[in-house]
Amino acid sequence: MNILAISGSLRASSTNSALLRAAAELAPNNVSVTLYNDLDDLPHFSPERDKENTSEAVNRLRALLQAANAVLICTPEYIHGMPGVLKNMLDWLASSGEFVEKPAGVISASPSDMGGSRAHAALSYTLSVLTANLPEGASLIVPFVRTRIDAGGHVTDPVLIDELRGVIRALVKAIELRN
Ligand code: FNR
Repeated sequence: MNILAISGSLRASSTNSALLRAAAELAPNNVSVTLYNDLDDLPHFSPERDKENTSEAVNRLRALLQAANAVLICTPEYIHGMPGVLKNMLDWLASSGEFVEKPAGVISASPSDMGGSRAHAALSYTLSVLTANLPEGASLIVPFVRTRIDAGGHVTDPVLIDELRGVIRALVKAIELRN
C-alpha cells in the first residue's frame, strides 16, 4: 500500500512535515508513506492551463496521486484557513478528479490550543467537495504541537504517537474496504 503524504507548509523545519515523517516511520511494513516534496513547484492555478499546456509539476502531482492508494495531508492554519499553497494544489485537482473516492487523512497542527481546527474544517470541507473518502479515524487536530516534538522534529508525546498510528490504521482500513 502506498500513501502519499502532503504537508501544507513549505518551511524546511515545519512541524507539520515532521508529523508526516513520524507517521511514515510508524506505518506498518506493508505500507509505504512517501512525502510529496514539490508543492513549491506548482504554478498558480489557471483554468487555461488545466487541460492543455499543463505544467510538468502538475502532471507529476496528478500521476503521484493516481498511483497512491490513499493521501495524508498535514497542514498548518494560516489566518484561520488552509495555506494558499495547499488550496492552490487542490484547485489543480478539481477537474482531473484524483481525489474522487480516494481515502484521505486530514491532520492540522498548530502551536496554539486550537490546533489549526479552522484549517482542518476548511480542508475537510474542500476534500469532501472533491468527493474524497474521509474516514473518521483518519482525522486529527494537534494543539500545542511545539511542546510535543523535539528540536529534531521527533514526536516525544506518546499520546500523539498513538494518535498518528490510529490515523494510519484508519487509512489502511479504508484502502482495504475499497479493494
Ligand atoms: C500563522 N499561524 C497561525 N496559527 C494558528 O493556529 N492559526 C492561525 O490562524 C495562524 N495564522 C498564521 C498566519 C501566517 C501567515 C503564519 C506564517 C503563521 C502560526 C502557525 O501555526 C505556525 O507558524 C506553525 O508553526 C506553522 O506550521 P509549520 O510551518 O511549523 O508546519
